[in-house]
Amino acid sequence: MVDLKGQYDFIRDEVSDNMAQILDNSTFINGPMVKAFQKDMESYLNIKHVIPCANGTDALQIALMGLKLVPGDEVITSDFTFAASVEVISLLKLKPVLVDVDLKTFNIDPIAIEKAITPKTKAIIPVHLFGQCADMDSILGIAKKYNLFVLEDNAQGIGATHTFADGTEAKTGTLGHVAATSFFPSKNLGAYGDGGAILTNDDKLAYFIRAIINHGMYKR
Ligand SMILES: Cc1ncc(COP(=O)(O)O)c(C=O)c1O
Repeated sequence: MVDLKGQYDFIRDEVSDNMAQILDNSTFINGPMVKAFQKDMESYLNIKHVIPCANGTDALQIALMGLKLVPGDEVITSDFTFAASVEVISLLKLKPVLVDVDLKTFNIDPIAIEKAITPKTKAIIPVHLFGQCADMDSILGIAKKYNLFVLEDNAQGIGATHTFADGTEAKTGTLGHVAATSFFPSKNLGAYGDGGAILTNDDKLAYFIRAIINHGMYKR
């Protein structure tokens, strides 16, 4: 399904040159190449903050930590997703509430979301599956009505464009309060290794998340 070897053959020289630079400079973690990628992605997505991290699961967990929920708070997500979307909720001692998907798109069903809301519900994690955006007009409307956070799981959605009911467009990952994405090699945008990123337009949240990513340090 994913021809990684074929892709590599196509861009072999570019990859080799850039890999050699990284090795020559020993800039393996968050070096200039990662910073340049971050800037490129910020302008491609038209978002203020792309915060790179180790993988998509960490991105989801750290984004969720950024929302400062407390144990027992309920987070609604899809029952048809990769395990990571749900794992991170449980890891933080929050309660995952799984709701069903729309049978046409396999993305989370907004009607099912609204039915599952309780006084303890604090966030929704829509998952944009197979490069296809969830019904974000409805989901953002529900979030506004019940004052909930929206954390987009964009691990399979990066590059997709959402067209709102009023005709305006925006990329997935920029639609909710915060988003997480994965650069697992077979993803829409895959790395040669593990990688992920957190996306947000919220300056305060980005500042807090950058601290979580780097053990509380802004400077070494
Ligand atoms: C929907 C979804 N969320 C999260 C992840 C986790 O990403 P990673 O494998 O980079 O931790 C994946 C992919 O593995 C995924 O498909």
